[in-house]
Amino acid sequence: MEITTITLESNSIKIEATPNSRLPGVDLNNVKFGSVFSDHMFILDYEEGKWQNPRIVPYGDILMSPSISGLHYGQSIFEGMKAFRDKEGNIHIFRPILHLKRLNKSAARLCMPEVPEDIFLKALEKLISLDHRWVPKLPGALYIRPILFAVDEFLGMRPSLNYKLIIFTLPVNVYYNEPLKVYVTTEYVRASSGGIGYVKAAGNYARSLLINKIAQSKGCNVVLWLDAKERKFIEEYSTMNAFFVIDDFVVTPRLTGTILEGVTRDSVIQLLKAEGYRIYEREIAIDEVLDMLEKGHLKEAFGTGTAAVMAPVQEIHYRDNVYKLSDHRTWKIFPTIEKKLADIRALVVPDTFNWLHHVSI
Ligand SMILES: Cc1ncc(COP(=O)(O)O)c(C=O)c1O
Repeated sequence: MEITTITLESNSIKIEATPNSRLPGVDLNNVKFGSVFSDHMFILDYEEGKWQNPRIVPYGDILMSPSISGLHYGQSIFEGMKAFRDKEGNIHIFRPILHLKRLNKSAARLCMPEVPEDIFLKALEKLISLDHRWVPKLPGALYIRPILFAVDEFLGMRPSLNYKLIIFTLPVNVYYNEPLKVYVTTEYVRASSGGIGYVKAAGNYARSLLINKIAQSKGCNVVLWLDAKERKFIEEYSTMNAFFVIDDFVVTPRLTGTILEGVTRDSVIQLLKAEGYRIYEREIAIDEVLDMLEKGHLKEAFGTGTAAVMAPVQEIHYRDNVYKLSDHRTWKIFPTIEKKLADIRALVVPDTFNWLHHVSI
């Protein structure tokens, strides 16, 4: 096989553009989350110890052997980030370098090769500029899904030698149509100390499926995980990090290696600090949250994540009891930070944190 070394001029990515865009049949403001994909995808192979053959091809099926190790032993990781249009219609990716750092942290934990920053950024820029018409207006966004998985045709317990990175995109709108009804599980756990809870491994999500189904059957739209050992301390929601406003300060579980290091979490913490709020990253027990709620001190609770951005909590279901929070439209901190984040994304205010990565078309 001929080995191509990647040079970083933009023309080194081979591009096969589709002659038949599917966009004319799509209403960008009305797509069901996760069901409609843009026209192209980026593919990069890791073979013979090197990343090679970067290409953009029409989005579609890929040929795989049933013996690829990614399907059997779980060497499969991913990321989820977004590109937005600012108020002028220009497109920016939100904090791609931090997402790449997390992808590479996931890769290191699962013995997979790290993806170089220059290749990653170039791929994103090319892919999004090619499919720029797929980026909806705010509050819609283009969701970007990089996946990295093992492709050795080999059964046996060792890290694969070969991998594929694929990046595809999809237009999305709101993730949760209504405030969160939270189901706190004491029965199942997502991650334990020393495990892989801090990385974005496909297996972490497989663990969530059953309890998510149970939560839905009880009228809830999200699961809140507790720690694996004592089933007492709050970890995170199934797709978001957790924040609680107690009187006039904010608490979020600290990063202990069992929860995902959310990019939105980091952004919200920085915004809270910039707005002068006290924010504590510490252990917080479910009993403390419910006690504060009953005594009138829990003013707000919300989740943060790329898909939902910020989602307010309306109810907490715990051990057959339902605890209700006040109407989120009366809250103070949640809407302040939500607006700050939205204003930065739309460039209504300057991007002083340097979070936006411009994509030229
Ligand atoms: C389990 C979990 N926690 C937290 C988050 C939030 O992370 P981020 O803000 O980077 O999207 C996500 C979403 O990626 C998630 O899947």
